[in-house]
Amino acid sequence: MGNKEQSRVMYDIRESGIHNRGMFARERIKKNSLVVEYIGEKISKKESERRGIERMEEARRDGGGAVYIFELNKRFDIDGNVPENEARLINHSCSPNCEPRVINGQIWIVSLEVIETGDELTYDYGYDLEHFLEHPCRCGSKKCVGYIVRTDKRGKLKRILKQHRKREKKKR
Ligand SMILES: C[S@@+](CC[C@H](N)C(=O)[O-])C[C@H]1O[C@@H](n2cnc3c(N)ncnc32)[C@H](O)[C@@H]1O
Ligand SMILES: [Zn+2]
Repeated sequence: MGNKEQSRVMYDIRESGIHNRGMFARERIKKNSLVVEYIGEKISKKESERRGIERMEEARRDGGGAVYIFELNKRFDIDGNVPENEARLINHSCSPNCEPRVINGQIWIVSLEVIETGDELTYDYGYDLEHFLEHPCRCGSKKCVGYIVRTDKRGKLKRILKQHRKREKKKR
């Protein structure tokens, strides 16, 4: 049985409380399992940059155009915006139970802990602070700061939001 067939039985895709559709554990998943391969088109860094800018502009215009590009190595990225890439349906969480890893030239979504049947699979989208207001987070985790921002930037964002609330209070 190939990896793709094997991973198929590990998850279901259905409506998510976080956003639209998401990926859920069909069975108990052990820590460090290769849950699903993040497949897509292999593109150069130059093309990746062009598509990244284009999709961000689309997102700003109409709220669509999510970016599905992952770093594969120093020369190439993977654009996962292809219908056969089911891993693109995984939502972000500020307390993720999975993470993307490059393994033997492929990108895999790997479990960080034991995941119980029915739990939603998530990873940290790793977004930078820039334009954080455009990415409100509804992951529901205790660690959530309300916006999709990568772990090491959350402290800084908390401080920015605190100052913002203080300023708003003074205005009233
Ligand atoms: C790669 S898609 C994930 C699949 C998406 N739920 C769907 O059904 O198409 C990325 C988009 O999902 C939404 N999303 C993912 N995680 C989210 C979260 N924690 N909070 C709010 N929206 C989220 C955002 O709109 C994001 O641009
Ligand atoms: Zn969150």
